[in-house]
Amino acid sequence: MATLPAPPFAMCASPSLERATIISSASLRLDRLGRHFGKVRAVDELTLEIPAGSFVTLLGPSGCGKSTTLNLIAGLDQPDTGSVHLGEQDITGVPPNERRMAMVFQNYALYPHMTAFDNIAFSLKLQRRSRQEIEQRVKVVAEMLDIAHLLRRKPSQLSGGQQQRVALGRALVKQPLVFLLDEPFSNLDAALRSRMRTEVKHLHLQLGTTSVFVTHDQEEAMTLSDAIAVMSEGKLVQYGSQAEVYGRPRNMYVATFVGKPKMSLVRGRLEADADAVQFVSDDGTIRVRVGRPGELRLAETDRTQVALGVRAEDVRISPNGGTGSGRSFTATVGLKEPIGSDTFVELVAGEATIVARAAPDFGVEIGQPVTGEIVAGRTHLFALETGERINA
Ligand SMILES: Nc1ncnc2c1ncn2[C@@H]1O[C@H](COP(=O)(O)OP(=O)(O)O)[C@@H](O)[C@H]1O
Ligand SMILES: [Mg+2]
Repeated sequence: MATLPAPPFAMCASPSLERATIISSASLRLDRLGRHFGKVRAVDELTLEIPAGSFVTLLGPSGCGKSTTLNLIAGLDQPDTGSVHLGEQDITGVPPNERRMAMVFQNYALYPHMTAFDNIAFSLKLQRRSRQEIEQRVKVVAEMLDIAHLLRRKPSQLSGGQQQRVALGRALVKQPLVFLLDEPFSNLDAALRSRMRTEVKHLHLQLGTTSVFVTHDQEEAMTLSDAIAVMSEGKLVQYGSQAEVYGRPRNMYVATFVGKPKMSLVRGRLEADADAVQFVSDDGTIRVRVGRPGELRLAETDRTQVALGVRAEDVRISPNGGTGSGRSFTATVGLKEPIGSDTFVELVAGEATIVARAAPDFGVEIGQPVTGEIVAGRTHLFALETGERINA
């Protein structure tokens, strides 16, 4: 079962909200949740614990069941099996409007004929709050989101980013126990997306509301989350902090989905003698030390087909000559990709290609012979047959 250490029940008064406003948040637990559509298992035995006050991201490619999971949490859809718990309470059968959750969608879903003010105030009007209270709460939220000057406009008179702020405002004003955000920034351009990301992170730090954020963008997941739940075909593949998911991916799927550039993978086999295990690529070009016997989760290492995984920042390039560390290989430079802060260099070694990160002004030319060296302890090994990680 996937669990994270739970912080104590979070209850905090936000300094920027008015005196009487207490925002509290509760933990959320999905227990063997299942939902299928015909033959498609959109959500498959999903068990997940989301600690009170945490920011958790569901990450996975399109169609892996993220939105269905979020809809089940919100109560917009009913599971075939399993249950949803808010704090101690089983809320599986509770209607959406009684769940104290607020959802933000990719397409904003604002009412086009209403002003920004009325869109934000809508849920409070339904609750028959006093005009004074509504005005006060909308004002506080609008100031937090920097849209106080736009409240009289209708959605068509607002930019995409401003519309999404209004949508966020509509969620915030409800003072929910849980925020659910389904790819909220996907329709925004890259610069705005990254700014909204930062703002949402600030808002979360300020309010401490339990949040479940859905995205297919691994970078977004990494920058925002306390924990990332990586999903594939309705199932939870790995649940952990950004450092765990990135630094110790449990299988090849997570290893290649998380991280940019993609982790380099080289096919080969392992050869063990009394004091070292070596990885040998299929064509024999790369031969590197990957650990000691007994460190790998494999009974018979010798005959197993494996993939060696290496992240770009874990490969050093030197102009020529071996380093004698047992972790170096000879290669030629296949391509250089400068991105400003770094240059990514493709090292071609036989049939394998390994990407290395170098300084922006690193002086190598395409076609030049070089030596690559893998940083000690930074190799990832996967059994090819199952894709599962086999080193610690
Ligand atoms: N209402 C529905 N009817 C039929 N199939 C659906 C429905 N909703 C989702 N699906 C299917 O369930 C799977 C998961 O969808 P979804 O949760 O929307 O994925 P994601 O949000 O990760 O892109 C997909 O194969 C999708 O086609
Ligand atoms: Mg979706």
